[in-house]
Amino acid sequence: MPDITIAIDGFSSTGKSTVARQLASALSYVYVDTGAMYRAVTLYAIRSGFTSGENVDHKALVDHLNSLDLEFRHNSDTGRSDMYLNGENVEKEIRTLEVSSLVSQVSVLPEVRTKLVALQRKMGENKALVMDGRDIGTVVFPDAELKIFMTASPDIRAARRYKELLDRGEDVKYEDVLENVRKRDHIDANRAVSPLKKADDAVVVDNSDMGREEQFERLLFLAKQII
Ligand code: C5P
Repeated sequence: MPDITIAIDGFSSTGKSTVARQLASALSYVYVDTGAMYRAVTLYAIRSGFTSGENVDHKALVDHLNSLDLEFRHNSDTGRSDMYLNGENVEKEIRTLEVSSLVSQVSVLPEVRTKLVALQRKMGENKALVMDGRDIGTVVFPDAELKIFMTASPDIRAARRYKELLDRGEDVKYEDVLENVRKRDHIDANRAVSPLKKADDAVVVDNSDMGREEQFERLLFLAKQII
């Protein structure tokens, strides 16, 4: 059974990560959430004082990129991989609305993308990988054997994200979450470097009306046709 690379791209809060993780586990593949990496760089920028309001001091961040170490480590309690920034587990800190509001400004930077894409390619050297993000099928692994483009309406995605943040105990308003989802969609799809777009050979999965299990079954079916 040949190992393959599975690239899953799509807009924010499409539930990509959940289904990608489930798929990786069913295939005994490694799962990599590249959004966590861009979020960790953003957290680093916030903590270092390189941000003010919704602005990011690009030069300061780029000048410090070398002192930033990113790593995924297995968490035996959850069975998942947690994001570590310079040796610290930041899995929780990178999911706040504050980080979400700034991450698209950080991910437009070519220097940040170059660094993270190199790390991602290294993680995929041995295939047997499910990676999700915005540019996996177009830039990171253009030769991936299976490419999925996940989508759902902005309202549905904002409602999902809102519930997730409330469940995590964050004090947020639905309107602010919807605004964040729309804004990130716009920046992600219109940036100059590696904009979010469907690869020509990607299969579109609109999960607006699909349950979690149905999405998983669909992706597993697509993978099994190749493997
Ligand atoms: O997937 P998630 O919503 O956690 O991603 C957070 C942000 O990271 C995205 O809105 C996007 O700006 C950026 N990102 C990216 N390229 C990737 C993954 C994420 O630009 N491959």
